Amino acid sequence: MPEKSNPTRRDVVKAAGVVTAAAAVANLQGAPAILKVRAASDQMKYGMIGTGGRGGYLLKHLTKIDNGHCAAICDLDDTRLEKAAATIGTSPAKYKDYRELLADKNVEAVLIAVPLFEHYAVTKDSLQAGKHTFCEKSLVFKPEEIHALRALKAQYPKQVLQVGLQRRYSKFYQLAKELVDKGVLGNVTHIHAQWHRNPGWVMNGFNWRLYKEYSGGLSAELASHQIDIADWIFGSAPDFVMGLGGLDTWKDGRDVYDNIQLIYQYPHGRKVVYSAITTNAHLPLLNSTRPEFGEVIMGTAGSLELTVGDGESTMPTAMWYREPVKVTAAKAEGKAPATAAGASYALGGSQKGMPIKLATDQLKVDPNDSFLQREKKFAQRWLYTKGVMADDEDRNPVETELESFFNDCHNNGHPKADLEVGLADSTAVILSNLCMEQERRVYFKEMDTMGTNVSPQQMAANFAAAQSSYSRSLIAKKKVS
Ligand SMILES: NC(=O)c1ccc[n+]([C@@H]2O[C@H](COP(=O)([O-])OP(=O)(O)OC[C@H]3O[C@@H](n4cnc5c(N)ncnc54)[C@H](O)[C@@H]3O)[C@@H](O)[C@H]2O)c1
Repeated sequence: MPEKSNPTRRDVVKAAGVVTAAAAVANLQGAPAILKVRAASDQMKYGMIGTGGRGGYLLKHLTKIDNGHCAAICDLDDTRLEKAAATIGTSPAKYKDYRELLADKNVEAVLIAVPLFEHYAVTKDSLQAGKHTFCEKSLVFKPEEIHALRALKAQYPKQVLQVGLQRRYSKFYQLAKELVDKGVLGNVTHIHAQWHRNPGWVMNGFNWRLYKEYSGGLSAELASHQIDIADWIFGSAPDFVMGLGGLDTWKDGRDVYDNIQLIYQYPHGRKVVYSAITTNAHLPLLNSTRPEFGEVIMGTAGSLELTVGDGESTMPTAMWYREPVKVTAAKAEGKAPATAAGASYALGGSQKGMPIKLATDQLKVDPNDSFLQREKKFAQRWLYTKGVMADDEDRNPVETELESFFNDCHNNGHPKADLEVGLADSTAVILSNLCMEQERRVYFKEMDTMGTNVSPQQMAANFAAAQSSYSRSLIAKKKVS
């Protein structure tokens, strides 16, 4: 009898060891957001530079973390500064010049969420001011900044440098990595990833991410997260990238592509096929239960569909599919043993996905649950028994990444999303844009020499010019998106 395409008990048991291990990892990382009262000396005193969209989001989640204390905030914009102070509620010192925040002796660690073109300069100044530093992705913007930041960080080995690639802190993504490393998916040869939006970024006042002068466009803002996951899963950077980008729909003055299609080749012929578009948000993964973004990791023995969710109404989740078993024609007809030369084919038919379960305890109704929490759990349990949805992770990985950052600052730990992870990610972003602009295959080894002839003085002059044009745009367009 040919085997069914559903996971067998043996597969489940094999995977269960991995799942249990993942749950153990998760437990080590801290319990769900139950705020313990910590002594002030146990809290890392941090300052945030850039309290716009992302900075505001981080601050909201920082209120659920007890091992950090917001001592200072900085933004060019008064309204955003006031809003941020109200969000965090710790009466932080307020600055408009980030250098003043860096000079504040009360600040031990710095979180940076300014536009991409400023990441390098602010990160550099933060390290030189002696601060532990968390910078949002993409870590840097230009080839010369990759080389310069690597050299600079080597001078500050005791300071933590972490990048805002939160998927690395998600239990489901850690589980995916374990499933791959333990061979549960067989030989993983391909990853498909997408981030589709509808509409894309809208031109509403001045939006820096729509201009190449300040932004790496869709590659930097969206693909960076998912290419980082591919690097992690495959355990290396790509060999080369090729792609096609277009500015075909949003003819509103932006100069970044509004749709990109990229193919990355990794060692041993492994490939990532990537798509980001801004005209349709459908996600054909996870039984289409989620929109916009996700990844499918494909191996000879199975596939894993994953998404990180938006961290607010939806959390990370994953679904595992076992690959239909290849049988010989003779075997299928019951004429075993099959000959080596016999024609072989794969069984057809649809596969039933198996939700990856992290902790069903999360779905137990607690007397303290709100009405909405109870309803959500009932719905999830029902869906779970139908096999159409995986359990959610119990915590937004953004909270885990920030808590982990403060722990590493305290304990001299090493972040999962460290300097080299960030630089590899930035390299992928820069080269992805280059391959589309120059309409050629771009090799990752080209980065070894790219930007090496730009002097620190030239870098400073280029940055000053970009900063003054950014300030002029802010004043001219007034409203910041
Ligand atoms: N990890 C993620 O999932 C994620 C999600 C969204 C954004 N981001 C990243 O966060 C960064 C910020 O993005 P955003 O959406 O918040 O942009 P934004 O424009 O909403 O916010 C940037 C803020 O920085 C301030 N700013 C600019 N230059 C400054 C300076 N020199 N000193 C002080 N303040 C300054 C601006 O006034 C603005 O309030 C980007 O690099 C982006 O890629 C990461």
